[in-house]
Amino acid sequence: MQSHELRKKFLTFFEERGHVVVPSSSLISDDSSVLLTTAGMQQFKPYFVGTADAEKDFGSKNTTSVQKSFRTSDIDEVGDEEHNTFFEMLGNFSFGGYFKEQAIQYALDFFKELGLTIQYVTIFEGDKDVPKDEESKKIWESLGVNDVREAGREDNFWGPTGSEGPCGPTTEVYINDTEIWNIVFNEYYCKKDGTMEPLEIKGVDTGMGLERLAMVSQNKSNIFETDVFSELIVVLPSELDIRIKRIITDHARSIVFLLADGVRPSNKEQGYILRRLMRRTLVYKHMHDVDIMPILKSVVEQYSPTYKELSWDMTEEEFTQEKEKFEKSIARGLRELQKAKVIDAPYAFGLYESFGLPYEIIKELGGRGAEDLTREAFDEEFKKHQEKSRAGREAKFGGHGLLLDTGELK
Ligand code: SER
Repeated sequence: MQSHELRKKFLTFFEERGHVVVPSSSLISDDSSVLLTTAGMQQFKPYFVGTADAEKDFGSKNTTSVQKSFRTSDIDEVGDEEHNTFFEMLGNFSFGGYFKEQAIQYALDFFKELGLTIQYVTIFEGDKDVPKDEESKKIWESLGVNDVREAGREDNFWGPTGSEGPCGPTTEVYINDTEIWNIVFNEYYCKKDGTMEPLEIKGVDTGMGLERLAMVSQNKSNIFETDVFSELIVVLPSELDIRIKRIITDHARSIVFLLADGVRPSNKEQGYILRRLMRRTLVYKHMHDVDIMPILKSVVEQYSPTYKELSWDMTEEEFTQEKEKFEKSIARGLRELQKAKVIDAPYAFGLYESFGLPYEIIKELGGRGAEDLTREAFDEEFKKHQEKSRAGREAKFGGHGLLLDTGELK
């Protein structure tokens, strides 16, 4: 099944079972504990904690959505077979409507409709604060899924890190060794200090990445081989290294969607993330002479039937502006680079910091002077710099930064 069919199938499945389809919220989240929307549940937080009434707002206690999501924690891993930054999260939610039995039954029935067989599931094994989720185990077994494995907090408990919000044990579904669907039972409210209180309304929050669902449904060995990515990757020169192709493709999707939600490249917060993504693709443009525009255009074309907010004219204009800025900066950096006789790690890092000249360019264009420069030494300088700025932040804010569940510090 093609990804656009999967997206539709999911929403229809839940709509037919009494869920109201709610449009995706913006990538710029209303939830101030995250820089960008990382999950479908974010727009529904008030309904889980009872400060808003789903029946009043949606006419139902049950909703479903396909949410535009973005995870910065994976940014440096992009290029391998699994990681990406922007993705679409399919979810069904209940705010005091159904709970474990129905949620698990739905998951089973949905995969049956797709003709997919569950390989195994996991449940929360229990710890000193939260008991083992025996109920979910029994439900799965009663439905004929007997490979029920147990895992702890790290894998089978969902909640905010360094922040507060609804939380609870999860049960996860695996197909072809891929973790595909995360079903969260929001039974508690987790506080910043790590303590928790039972929630008045018991909620269901599920999340399944469309890209991963496409992967198992299309029987591919990684997400980049699915129709979601393959139709974009072909736009790039075929001789380009596969890792670079994946990075450009992933970043192109993110750039288009972030721009459409009003993010603009800058040196802070969401704007900084966007700038980083844009500049990384521009580095490859510079080094391998790849035109980034055609792939950005393909992203707009592929997604604009579903996401009306995407705009090619605006994307082109914004990307061109950033490209021009970056090129000027690179040109200044290159002039500096040519003056230097020996380019050691501190000097290279200085070029990066002042002109945005990345390691790859310094190494490649630094010639003889950069012969002894290594990625490790450069990264070491980067780390030193990060430590210095962390110390600076702590001095300024008394150590109170907010570490987000995306791994960012706000
Ligand atoms: N909130 C859970 C997740 O992001 C389920 O939607 O995985």
